[in-house]
Amino acid sequence: MDQVSQIREKIDIVSFISEFIALKKAGRNFKANCPFHGEKTPSFVVSPERQIWHCFGCGKGGDVYTFLMEYEKLEFAEALRLLAKRTGIELISQKGNSIASSKKEKLYEVNSFAKEFYHFVLTKHKAGEKAREYLTKRGVTAKVIEAFMLGFAPHAGTALVKYLISKKHYAKEDLLDAGLAFMGRSGLMDFFRGRLMFPLFDHRDNVVGFAGRVLDGDVPSKYINTRETLIYHKGEHVFGLNVTKDAIRREKQVILVEGEFDVLSCFENGIGNVVAVKGTALTENQVNLLSRFVSKITFCFDGDKAGQEAIKRSLSVVEKKGLTPTVIVIPDGKDPDEALKIEPGVFKKAVKEDLGVYDYLLQKLLAENSTEAVEGKKNIVSEFLSFISSVQNEVVKEHYLRKLSKEVETSYESIAKELQRISERQGMVPEQTAVKSKIKRSREEALEEYLLALIVQNEKPKAALQKAVLVIAESLSKERSYQKILYHLLEQIEKEQPLGAGLPEELLSSFNTAVLFPLPVFEDQEKVLIEIEKVAKQLRRFYIKKKMKDIALAIKAASNTVETEEREVEASNVAEIKKLEELRTQYSALAAQLEAI
Ligand code: CTP
Ligand code: MN
Repeated sequence: MDQVSQIREKIDIVSFISEFIALKKAGRNFKANCPFHGEKTPSFVVSPERQIWHCFGCGKGGDVYTFLMEYEKLEFAEALRLLAKRTGIELISQKGNSIASSKKEKLYEVNSFAKEFYHFVLTKHKAGEKAREYLTKRGVTAKVIEAFMLGFAPHAGTALVKYLISKKHYAKEDLLDAGLAFMGRSGLMDFFRGRLMFPLFDHRDNVVGFAGRVLDGDVPSKYINTRETLIYHKGEHVFGLNVTKDAIRREKQVILVEGEFDVLSCFENGIGNVVAVKGTALTENQVNLLSRFVSKITFCFDGDKAGQEAIKRSLSVVEKKGLTPTVIVIPDGKDPDEALKIEPGVFKKAVKEDLGVYDYLLQKLLAENSTEAVEGKKNIVSEFLSFISSVQNEVVKEHYLRKLSKEVETSYESIAKELQRISERQGMVPEQTAVKSKIKRSREEALEEYLLALIVQNEKPKAALQKAVLVIAESLSKERSYQKILYHLLEQIEKEQPLGAGLPEELLSSFNTAVLFPLPVFEDQEKVLIEIEKVAKQLRRFYIKKKMKDIALAIKAASNTVETEEREVEASNVAEIKKLEELRTQYSALAAQLEAI
């Protein structure tokens, strides 16, 4: 056995995937909402018997490797290494050497050394003195500096470059590729200079990049971030998660703030379930990331216009993922950091009293517009509806439509009509169309797949199979893979082999689909058998009708020849007439069979 399979054998896919998402038992399989596309009814299925997974919504599927690659955005080699480590198997490359680490891993590594370097300068070195004073002035304690591994990039333009190249023996390319250095006129230069450094971690605690803030004043580039690299992509990460994820899980809520200092202040004040989006609207990637930990996202953006706009722009992604958005209204000061400096008690109280986002938006609109004048009403309605249109839950939607109708004294019907108009104009597409289109199949094929699923997922597959075969055996041909699989199953059951054993390669994917197919829940075995019989009968009708159609065509053809040759009584004609009669008998026999089902 090769190492890839050896490692696969050692990992149980159900417990493995359970470490990432909550799986629910469903018959012989396990189900969940798919982590790879937005959905609220589970179409992600895992089979413990086959050790595979598949999503019937987005079409993705595979084994432990593909799951890990998909979930953690890894290349195969990275997934292999992680799983090898987990199983304690040492990877040997063909040449007999240990597999060299990938480029990505090298960049994580060099970033990690940079983080240590900056941190050392901030906490121990003379060059970090000003930065230490600055942090003290802003109330950032040693505990917070350690927790978030803050650092300082010295003013001298090559301190980091020298450290990484002469002490750590990295190549120039590694520094350039990590975005830590750039090629200046006189050679390689540090990218961050004279800045307070905030390392940015991914959820696996790799350092993917940095944000650097100047110490003095409000210069245009107060913050700069690592440029796009192989491992740093703007809008994919959030600041602080590496420190705060446990608190976020515990509180079942994540508080989103705009800036790094907001995270630090909240943390210092005992509000631990917080991350920063770094001054932009929330992206789909960030929502996907956060949805691993919580189902409630609480915005605590700056009270200014930009902050409010960012909330509005973030809403539809939160809705799409089916998470609950709420808002904390900052009582005093422009951001959480300031509010906590002014009056921590008041801010903490506001945190406890987060509002539903839609209640908050409606309140704001009502405060900004008069409901007396028609113009004001119009504003409130059109603004509010543009947010409500992305709400997925119909109950929630109707709740707010009724509330709006009451507030602006306009009938519910008019409001609903207006919403319809706005949704059309915004070109809102229903969830399904966003999903990769499924392969179109005939009703017949769909039924075959369903029947096969009912059989292979049954607690007593033998009984289930017999039930089905009783009904369809006569009409069964061996044309399609599903039918071939049924024949194989019959054989396997005869020989008392496990289902799926020795199935030819080309039938495996159909068989796996049947094993994973999300079935409805049946009360008991008897109900399943009734369903099997029903489906088998439907299929049999299909088959018989198809045969009858073929025979009808043959009859037509045969009767044409008989008619044209009627006058010339020839021996061949007698044979034709006989054939025609035979066909007619066959046809009526099938018609009788159909009747009898
Ligand atoms: N930001 C950024 N680039 C900028 C400005 C801001 O990436 N040029 C991000 C930073 O992550 C910053 C956040 O947006 O923390 C909020 O920016 P801003 O509102 O300007 O922060 P302030 O509260 O004014 O700054 P600070 O708290 O650092 O004094
Ligand atoms: Mn601030």
